[in-house]
Amino acid sequence: MTGPGPLQRRHLEREARHLAPGASEESALARRVFTEGRGAVLTDLDGNQYLDFAAGTLTQSLGHGHPEVVAALTEQAGRLWNVHDSATPGRAELCDLLARLLPERLDTYAFFSTGAEVVEAALRVVQAVAPPGRNRIGALRHGFHGKTLGARMLVHWDIGNQSFAGNSVLGYSPYCYRCPLELERPSCGLRCATLVRRHIASKPNVSALVFEPVLGAAGVIVPPPGYWEQISEECRNNGVLLVADEVLTGGGRTGSFLASEALGAEADLVALAKGTASGFPFAVLAGRSEVLRSPAASAAGSTASTYAGNPLGIAAARATLEVVARDALVDRVRTLGDLLTDRLAALHARFDVLGDVRGLGLLHGLEFVRDRRTREPAPEIARAVYTTALDMGLRTSVGGHIIRLAPPFTIDVALLEEGAAILGRALERVTGQAGPGAGEAA
Ligand SMILES: Cc1ncc(COP(=O)(O)O)c(C=O)c1O
Repeated sequence: MTGPGPLQRRHLEREARHLAPGASEESALARRVFTEGRGAVLTDLDGNQYLDFAAGTLTQSLGHGHPEVVAALTEQAGRLWNVHDSATPGRAELCDLLARLLPERLDTYAFFSTGAEVVEAALRVVQAVAPPGRNRIGALRHGFHGKTLGARMLVHWDIGNQSFAGNSVLGYSPYCYRCPLELERPSCGLRCATLVRRHIASKPNVSALVFEPVLGAAGVIVPPPGYWEQISEECRNNGVLLVADEVLTGGGRTGSFLASEALGAEADLVALAKGTASGFPFAVLAGRSEVLRSPAASAAGSTASTYAGNPLGIAAARATLEVVARDALVDRVRTLGDLLTDRLAALHARFDVLGDVRGLGLLHGLEFVRDRRTREPAPEIARAVYTTALDMGLRTSVGGHIIRLAPPFTIDVALLEEGAAILGRALERVTGQAGPGAGEAA
């Protein structure tokens, strides 16, 4: 198969007459019309099937159409949809479930509907509780927190719209493959972390550090051991709140329920969204009670919005997280993650266009380069591998010169192997390199 089939092409032409452009790079390149998802498999309008190694958009931790989530949503859809932010029986159940899954100190929750909305809520809390004069917020270079104005003010790179020069103070992210300080591990002595610490210690007007524990959108940048421990200690010593944006990593994706916790950053506030409700719009702000219950942060209406905590989102989140807990899926993520790491390491060894492969749990980034020595980014190769793999039946996620892989936690080992094998064949086709054993066969 090359590109979308005839039914899909007709459909895309029809909607293009009215649909505004501006889709993500991955769906603009893919040009697919998906009709159904079951587990790790998607079907398009022409009947082709794909392994979904992007898990929706990192939302489908349980795969597509998990029967328990479908049942919970169907039951709730027949009962009650929206009563603003009034209490419902499901909300108390969800609070108890979150209290079981999250570290004990994160015992207070507010519910929202999207990643950007929960990040904005966290920013409002930070500003409300900040001592006078502490009006700036720390963030990391290469971070991504959503497309609302507050979230965009945290980062200074263009995310498809003109970027804002925000009110944030930026620190170095642990991007070892392209170290901004031109150092190498381990001789660098984690200089990036030292400089972030210095920033925090020397700027008394910073009230919080908002961070992705593993930087997802920038290409799955996994910090080396010690990075978060050092920075969080400095924040603690200087009264700077730690706000973990786990919209992408939270809920088990990296092999622990919270990546921040596993990497040594004890956050005061945590934002969760994507993996928590199987793709239904839903988000949680979890925090220390002294922060979220402080009078400054809890004025009437401060956690309310039209869809915040709607009963359907709560039903989807409860069903999703109950399955994650009951089926010990976070442990499964670690096991499957080890397997995927192995398969990707083998591809890295074979293909020079793969400058770096890295990841944690079931979240991996492949960085494409024109030349391993110069490390010049190769977005055209990433795009070619992405579309070739899709044509071969593997959906991944592409952005610039990076392909991200994030299969569902529930995927069968055989399908995980198959996805890795398709990726290998796509790399062979794009690079013109023969497969292993090709010489012997000839
Ligand atoms: C870390 C992080 N924060 C926030 C967001 C924004 O979430 P949403 O697209 O639901 O607004 C994203 C989206 O990818 C994200 O990865």
